[in-house]
Amino acid sequence: MAEDFTRIAVMVSGGGTNLQALIDAEKSGIIKSGKIVLVASDNPDAYALKRAAANDIETYIMKGEDYLLKKLEADDIELVVLAGFMKILSADFVSHFPNRMINIHPSLIPSFCGKGCYGLHVHEKALAYGVKVTGATVHYVNEVPDGGRIIAQKAVEIRDDDTPETLQRRVMEQAEWILLPRAAEKVSSILLNEKNK
Ligand code: GRF
Repeated sequence: MAEDFTRIAVMVSGGGTNLQALIDAEKSGIIKSGKIVLVASDNPDAYALKRAAANDIETYIMKGEDYLLKKLEADDIELVVLAGFMKILSADFVSHFPNRMINIHPSLIPSFCGKGCYGLHVHEKALAYGVKVTGATVHYVNEVPDGGRIIAQKAVEIRDDDTPETLQRRVMEQAEWILLPRAAEKVSSILLNEKNK
C-alpha cells in the first residue's frame, strides 16, 4: 500500500528559516499531502540541520551529486524542495526530478534572477536598480537556473530606508515563508493524486 503522503526532501545551505516554515506548516496542517522525511545540505555547519534534528528529521550531508541522487532514490523521495539552497545543481541531476523539484527565489522572476543572483545579492540588485516592489517566487527547477515554470509569487513593497538586510528580512517574512509551504502542499497534492490513480 503506497503511503498516503508525498515523501519530501528539503535541501538547505544556511539558516533554514524556509525549512522552519515548512516544518511549522506540516505541524499546523497547511502541508497535509506531504511529509518532510529528509533534510540534505552541502554545508555541514548549516543551522538548518539543527532545525531538522530538533524535529526528528533525518539529515544528510551531500558529498557530490551522484551520492545525493542515490540517497534520494534509496529514500523514495518524490519531491525535492530547495529552501535557501545555494548550489546550482547540474542539468543531469535536475532531469531526474521533472516537475518534482521546486525552489524559492527571493525576487519576482524574471527580475533579479539567474547567474550571481542569490541570497543578499538579489536584494542589493533590487535596491541598486531602484524598483519599488520586489517579492518572492516559487518555481519548478529545470536545467536553467531560476528558469522553470512559475508556481506562485508574492509582492513586497520596498521602503526608502531599506538596506539589503532589512529588505531580505521583509521578503522572507511577508513572502518566502508564506509561499513555500503553500507551494509545497500544492505540488505534494498533485503528486499524491498521481500516485493514487
Ligand atoms: C535567503 O536569502 C532567502 O531569501 C533565500 O535563501 C536565503 C537563506 O534562506 N531563499 P534560509 O533562511 O536558509 O531558508
